[in-house]
Amino acid sequence: MKNLTIAIDGPAGSGKSTISKKIARELNINYIDTGAMYRALTLKILKNNINISDKIELHRILQDTSIDFRDNHIFLDGEKVDEEIRDNQISTSVSDVAKIKEVREKLVEIQRNIASNKSVIMDGRDIGSFVLSDASHKFYITASIEERSNRRYKELKEKGYNEELDEIIKEIRERDRIDSTREHSPLVKCKDAIEIDTTNKTIDEVVSEILDIINRGGK
Ligand code: CDP
Repeated sequence: MKNLTIAIDGPAGSGKSTISKKIARELNINYIDTGAMYRALTLKILKNNINISDKIELHRILQDTSIDFRDNHIFLDGEKVDEEIRDNQISTSVSDVAKIKEVREKLVEIQRNIASNKSVIMDGRDIGSFVLSDASHKFYITASIEERSNRRYKELKEKGYNEELDEIIKEIRERDRIDSTREHSPLVKCKDAIEIDTTNKTIDEVVSEILDIINRGGK
C-alpha cells in the first residue's frame, strides 16, 4: 500500500501538534514535529552563544549538530530535550534562527529522510508548500490570535510557568510576522490545503473532521 503523508501547517498555537499527535495515534503512523527541530537547534545556538550572523560559526554548528525526532521525542546530539525546548527564551528566538536558509536546508533534509519510507503526519510551517509538497493530504490549521494566545497561556500555566498573557500575545504575533514574511519557505496556506479554523472547535472535533476527510479519500 502507498504511504500516507499528511502535511499540517499553520501559525503558532493553532493546535497543530496536539491534533497531529492524536491523528498519528488513530492511524498508527509516525508524527514528526518539525517545530521541535527548529527549537532544538535554537537551544544549542543559545547555549553555545553562537553568533548566527557569522556564517562560519553557523556553518560549523550546523555540521556539528545532530537533530532527530523519534517516538514523539526530540533528540539534540543524542539527548532528549523535550522540556528544554519549550522555554520562553527559545520561543522568542526560534523564528530568527528558522529564517536562515542554511538552517532550513539542513532540517528539511532530515525531515524528508524521515518521511521517505513510511507513513507520516508532519506539522510545521512549510510542510505542504515545500517539505512534502506531494503529500497525500494537506491541512492548514488556524485560530484567532486571542484563542491561540489563550491556549498557550493555559498550557504554560499547567506546566508551572508564569508568563503574562500580554507577553504571550506579543511573542506569538511577532513570531507569526517573522514566519510569514521571511524570504525562504514562509508560512502560507497552499492552494491544495484544506483550511480548518479551530477557534470555536474542540481538539476532538477537529481530529474527527480531519479523519473523516482522510477516510473519504479527500485531499
Ligand atoms: O509554538 P508552536 O508549537 O506553534 O511552534 P513550533 O511548531 O514549535 O515552531 C517553532 C518555530 O519554528 C516557528 O515559529 C517557526 O519559526 C519555526 N518553524 C519553521 O520555520 N518551519 C517549520 N516547518 C516548523 C517550525
